[in-house]
Amino acid sequence: METKTRKAATAHKIIEAGEGVLNLVWGKADERRAASLEIIARTAYTAEESACHYLETIGLDKEGTIRDTLELARYQDTNEQTHEDIFARDLDGLKNWGDRFLARHIAVVIYWVFAITTLIDHEMAALLGEAVEVEAVKTYRRMLKEQPEEWLDQPAAPTATHYWEKPNSMWRVRGDHMPGSMRDVVEAIVRDEADHVKANSKKATAF
Ligand SMILES: [Fe+2]
Ligand SMILES: [Fe+2]
Repeated sequence: METKTRKAATAHKIIEAGEGVLNLVWGKADERRAASLEIIARTAYTAEESACHYLETIGLDKEGTIRDTLELARYQDTNEQTHEDIFARDLDGLKNWGDRFLARHIAVVIYWVFAITTLIDHEMAALLGEAVEVEAVKTYRRMLKEQPEEWLDQPAAPTATHYWEKPNSMWRVRGDHMPGSMRDVVEAIVRDEADHVKANSKKATAF
């Protein structure tokens, strides 16, 4: 964790426990795990956006920090959506009915957990998000080591190339080269998740 407080350590423990359960179903660092966990992770940002928008609407954003958090969450949401589309759509990671059922139902629960937590204790919600991203970095590092060479050497998924072409995408802004293979894509995603760790750590103290 980038944040070194006790609250951050607690958030990390909660996420590790939840991930331990998900590992029973999606233990292998492949497109099934990535597609399922990305849906769940992306929903947390959508929930944060909704809650921030609500807080802004009822007039609590006196200094503009809630709006800044909302804008950052939107930017992260688009990036997570790209990850999801790469693994779920392009690589068919959700082809099993059971995976779709489970991932989507967990995502709905996570939406409400993150929306309500953001309203009650935004710091905690951001720290839980930071912990999710710490674990995401580990998943994609494992993917680079554990997926077969031919899988990593396959051409970059179309969504990845499309995302890179967007002038304000996280990959362009960072100066990444256009991904040629899935190895390049996963390496870019590792950098994305590491960026999310830092951004969520900052958001935790935003308001
Ligand atoms: Fe992601
Ligand atoms: Fe992420």
